[in-house]
Amino acid sequence: MQAKIAKVKQIIDQSNNIVFFGGAGMSTESGIPDFRSADGIYKQKYNYPPEQILSINFFKRHPDVFYDFLKEKVLTPILAAQPNQGHIKLAQMEKAGKLKAVITQNIDGLHQRAGSENVLQLHGSIKNNYCLKCGKNFSLDYFAKKEGTVYCDRCDGLIHPGAVLFGEPLDSMIMRKTKEYISLAEVLIVAGTSMIVQPAAALVNYYKGDKLILLNLTQVSNRRINYFLKGKAGELLSQLYTDT
Ligand code: OAD
Ligand code: ZN
Repeated sequence: MQAKIAKVKQIIDQSNNIVFFGGAGMSTESGIPDFRSADGIYKQKYNYPPEQILSINFFKRHPDVFYDFLKEKVLTPILAAQPNQGHIKLAQMEKAGKLKAVITQNIDGLHQRAGSENVLQLHGSIKNNYCLKCGKNFSLDYFAKKEGTVYCDRCDGLIHPGAVLFGEPLDSMIMRKTKEYISLAEVLIVAGTSMIVQPAAALVNYYKGDKLILLNLTQVSNRRINYFLKGKAGELLSQLYTDT
């Protein structure tokens, strides 16, 4: 393992065109549970399967159950979290001119809080809440402080949280930029994702190089991976980038 880490570190040291693609496993070291691990959100008991709850149809049909779940399982841990050493390393790599973009499936905003500037949030952000009826935008503050289901103060419409829900398309501009960064990258670091949720996971297939590095607690099935380091993403990133 140490030899493998040394090899990957050398690849990272030598490149100024690295792109990062991450998922929920990037934030577990900040105390936010991921979705599909043994203690992930989807393994915790609820009256409906969580993947169903986090869908646009379910949201419109049962906003109260949706909001209850969202606040307890998603927002509360996010609001209590701080960026971890992995987020900080990535921000430092960007400042050093080595990392071109952070592409994330997470909505928690921890990359930005750690100092990353070029962050593409494929699944939205907890900051961009909006009314389904009139489109008015609502801050995280307004949204998080309200008890229960959150309605618009202008038209009483239901407020859609900033996250992209199952059954909704991803932002086409963010998708386009993601494809562009990944296809031009020399090194692609993928971390903390099960790589099963589409269309996000398939975006990795735009990578054309031979330095696709996976940092994950568990192996994932993707035959494009060139180097797999098994472990915690934050801890591994700290070992892989030490030039600060
Ligand atoms: P998952 O929960 O599916 O996968 C997280 C992966 O990270 C698993 O393979 C874990 O083994 C791994 N992991 C956990 N902690 C880790 C750590 N500290 N270091 C390295 N690896 C770690 O999460 P995602 O792949 O991000 O979408 O899930 C994708 C999407 O599914 C989410 O964006 C969300 C969810 O439904 C929506 O809600 C639309
Ligand atoms: Zn409204």
